[in-house]
Amino acid sequence: MTPPGFSPAFDAEFHDLLRWRRDVRHFRRDRVPGPVLDGLLATACLAPSVGLSEPWRFVRVDDPARRRAVRDDFAHCNARALAARDGSDASDYARLKLAGLDDAPHHVAVFSDNDPAQGRGLGRGTMPQTTTWSTVMAIHTFWLAATVAGVGVGWVSIIDPARVSAMLDVDPGWELVAYLCVGYPQDPSDTPELQRRGWERRAPERQHWIER
Ligand SMILES: Cc1cc2nc3c(=O)[nH]c(=O)nc-3n(C[C@H](O)[C@H](O)[C@H](O)COP(=O)(O)O)c2cc1C
Repeated sequence: MTPPGFSPAFDAEFHDLLRWRRDVRHFRRDRVPGPVLDGLLATACLAPSVGLSEPWRFVRVDDPARRRAVRDDFAHCNARALAARDGSDASDYARLKLAGLDDAPHHVAVFSDNDPAQGRGLGRGTMPQTTTWSTVMAIHTFWLAATVAGVGVGWVSIIDPARVSAMLDVDPGWELVAYLCVGYPQDPSDTPELQRRGWERRAPERQHWIER
């Protein structure tokens, strides 16, 4: 099969995609059509994985009681994170909106099966964390595909992984990697929300490079 050629116009659009992919915390309430969401999850599975193990496990959380339990867990963990800060740091933190769990029409929990039969253990001997990293790759692929479809994704990590895993009644061997809010964004932006709210700024790229 002939590989596709990527045109300069596509390259420019791809850069726009990376620039406009956002962590979204303000969602419209209308649902993403089922086939669209299915397509995004299928695209996520094109991600690379150690030994071709494909350890990602996506759990769509539609049950209202389970969603409420996760939201309550976030509220609890977020209150604790706030209490651990003081002074202006605490008031800055209190002003942030760090999840869209109430508004987002879809919740997707992403787990990693860190001992999958698939892949036959290849590449995991010296770096067992590579299954988790593979799952992160799938999440990023999902995030980019969603952005292309005009769908927003917000990553929530201010939850207790053991409690949320129990709430979702999944295989005890699976590791919770991300809890995603998914839906149409209220206000697309090319600037991270934490930057817009004055919490943190992107550093110049070169600050992250070193030479040896
Ligand atoms: C591993 C990971 C965990 C994150 N956890 C949270 C979170 O709990 N709450 C939140 O509001 N944003 C969370 N984020 C989103 C980041 O704050 C966001 O990616 C960052 O500010 C850059 O903004 P951008 O994604 O819009 O470019 C998380 C992102 C990653 C990659």
